Amino acid sequence: MALFTGKGILQSEALKKYIFETTSYPREHRELKNLREATVNKYGNKSEMSVPVDEGQFLSMLVKIMNAKRTLEIGVFTGYSLLSTALALPDDGQITAIDLDQEAYEVGLPFIRQAGMEHKINFIKSNAISALSEMLNNDKDRSEFDMAFVDADKCSYKQFHEQLLKLVKVGGIIAYDNTLWYGSVAQKEEAVPEHRREAKKAIMEINEYLACDPRIDISQVSIGDGVTYIFETTSYPREHRELKNLREATVNKYGNKSEMSVPVDEGQFLSMLVKIMNAKRTLEIGVFTGYSLLSTALALPDDGQITAIDLDQEAYEVGLPFIRQAGMEHKINFIKSNAISALSEMLNNQDKDRAEFDMAFIDADKCSYKQYHEQLLKLVKVGGVCIEKQSMFIADVAADGV
Ligand SMILES: C[S@@+](CC[C@H](N)C(=O)[O-])C[C@H]1O[C@@H](n2cnc3c(N)ncnc32)[C@H](O)[C@@H]1O
Repeated sequence: MALFTGKGILQSEALKKYIFETTSYPREHRELKNLREATVNKYGNKSEMSVPVDEGQFLSMLVKIMNAKRTLEIGVFTGYSLLSTALALPDDGQITAIDLDQEAYEVGLPFIRQAGMEHKINFIKSNAISALSEMLNNDKDRSEFDMAFVDADKCSYKQFHEQLLKLVKVGGIIAYDNTLWYGSVAQKEEAVPEHRREAKKAIMEINEYLACDPRIDISQVSIGDGVTYIFETTSYPREHRELKNLREATVNKYGNKSEMSVPVDEGQFLSMLVKIMNAKRTLEIGVFTGYSLLSTALALPDDGQITAIDLDQEAYEVGLPFIRQAGMEHKINFIKSNAISALSEMLNNQDKDRAEFDMAFIDADKCSYKQYHEQLLKLVKVGGVCIEKQSMFIADVAADGV
C-alpha cells in the first residue's frame, strides 16, 4: 500500500519507510491494519488525517504504562488512534470518543468490532466544545479521566485545554496532536501553503500558551506531526535550574562533545515518563555528565533509586556538583564499570535486582545494545519500560526469560 507522505515532520521519505517497515508495520494489530487500509480506500489523500502507525503504537504504550482506565478522545475520524487506545486499555476500560462526523466513525467501526473493542467505546456525535461543557456539568466526569487525546480542529485547542484541565485527573495526561503542523511552525509564512496558515497560527499560539501554563508539565514529542504531552501537576518544573547549570558546565568542559547529553526536550520527556509510571527504581546505562540522570532523579520520589553505570567517572564528576545542589545525590548509585559486566553482576545478584527495575534508559555504545537488551529483559519488571535511545518498548518477558 502506498504511504502518504505529506504529513508529519520526518522530511526523509526513506527514514519514514525504514521506521514503518522495520518497527511499526510488523507489530501493527490486524484490525488496525484493516482499518488503515479501509480508510485509504474510502478517503484517499484525506486518510492522512489518521495518526500514523508509529504514533498509534506510542499512544498505546502510554496507555499501558499509565494503567489508564478512562480516556477521552477528541477527533475520531475513522478511529485509528481510537482503536490503538482501546486495544491498550483493560477489558473494563472506557473511552469517550467525540466527533461531529459519525459517517467516518462508521467506516472504522467494523474493524473495532472485529477486534472485540466496541464495548470500551462511548461515541458521542457532537461538537467537542459542547460535549465537553456538558460533561463538565456532570460530577461523574470531573477529574475522572486518566488521559485525553486531542486531534480535532486546531483553532479550538485553547478552549479544549481549559475544559480538559477540569476533566483530566492531576497526574493524568493530555496529548495534543499536530503541534508541529507539518513542520510549518518553524517556517516563514510565505513558505507555508495558504490553506495551512490559519491552523499554523493557532498551533503556534497554543504552543506558546502551553509552554507558559504553570499548571502543567510539558513534553514536545517529535513523532508523527508532533505531539505535545501535558502532565497535570501542581508545580512548575520546566528546565530545573541545576539542569541548566549542568548543561552549561558540560558545554564549557566538552565543547562539541557535549552533544552526547540528551537534549532538553528529551530530558523532559524522560522525566514525564518516570512520573506517569510512578517509577521508583531505574537503571541508566551511559551517564556522561548526567543530564538524563538528573532529569530522572528530579522526577523520582524522595525514596527513589537510580543505578547509573558508566566507564567515565570523570565526566560524572563534572555533573555531580549540580546533582548535589539539586539535592538528588542520595537517589543515585553510580557504578564505574563496563555496563555488560555490571549488568552481569546484577543478574547474579538473584533476588535484589532481578525484575526489580521499573525503567531502564540506555544511551551507551550502540554495538552492545543487543547484549544489553537480553540482560535488561531480566532486570526490568514485566510492564516496565526500556528506552534504548531512539526506541522504546514495554518489557513483557518475565525475569527468567520465560
Ligand atoms: C485529524 S482527524 C482525527 C484522526 C483520528 N485521531 C485518527 O487517528 O484517525 C480530525 C477529526 O476531528 C473532527 N473534528 C474537528 N473539529 C471538531 C470539533 N470541534 N468537535 C468534534 N469533532 C471535530 C473531524 O470531524 C475529524 O474527524
